[in-house]
Amino acid sequence: MKNTVTSLQRQKNEGDKITMLTCYDYSMAKLMDEAGINMLLIGDSLGQVVLGYEDTLSVTMEDMIHHTRAVSRGASNAFVLADLPFMSYQTSIYDAVSNAGRLLKEGRAHGVKLEGGVKVCPQIKAIVDASIPVCAHIGLTPQSVNAFGGFKIQGKTEEAAKQLIEDAKAVEAAGAFIVVLEGVPAKLAELVSKEISIPTIGIGAGASCDGQVLVYQDMLTIFSDFTPKFVKQFADVGGMMQQAFQDYITEVKEGKFPAEEHSYSISDDIIDRLY
Ligand code: KIV
Ligand code: NA
Repeated sequence: MKNTVTSLQRQKNEGDKITMLTCYDYSMAKLMDEAGINMLLIGDSLGQVVLGYEDTLSVTMEDMIHHTRAVSRGASNAFVLADLPFMSYQTSIYDAVSNAGRLLKEGRAHGVKLEGGVKVCPQIKAIVDASIPVCAHIGLTPQSVNAFGGFKIQGKTEEAAKQLIEDAKAVEAAGAFIVVLEGVPAKLAELVSKEISIPTIGIGAGASCDGQVLVYQDMLTIFSDFTPKFVKQFADVGGMMQQAFQDYITEVKEGKFPAEEHSYSISDDIIDRLY
């Protein structure tokens, strides 16, 4: 069954948890889609886990469109959500709408995600008015790493907690259909999830959110430069890959690979005449 803005809202209403994973290419999109994931996020975490930057700030619209197209081709049922990268929507309402449009027109995403609460509500409203579903992202918003002075948990003080609730209500009122809560105390995320009617998707925000998201390289132990507390390593796929790479190297060096079943044949007569 296709996942849509209406089916995702129904999941919240019925208490059926929404599942989201980041995804950056076609093969992985097919695997996740066939596993039954509700939403695929082409996150700007692309900057770290695919492109090797230390943060998300250098990711461009071209990077996002390129990977969004690849994921869209592999997604049959999942809702494809693409991040608006740093400086693609902060600069003006016009930039926000036109770049959101590119992620749908060129990337074939179904919706876009942007970071911020009250401050980006004019952008959210304008994008929604252009008939583009918007996911807001509040709490620890990685594009603000320099303003925060590092990747820090948000909403710990009473003032910050009130601000988070205000941000959640504001993005809902601006028309966002869903909101990611990142790096927020679990009890605060629970309260926010009750206070607003659109679904909340948590990452480092406890089990009471209406859904969860993880970066797939984190959950598969493929990326381990840095592993936040909120990551659960569901499998050591990185370790399996490394073992397979070592086996390949060994077999090539020992002449065990390729074997006859991996090779093409020609009649011996022809070869004899060539000698
Ligand atoms: O870019 C990303 O991967 C994200 C998720 C962590 C929500 O924004
Ligand atoms: Na992101």
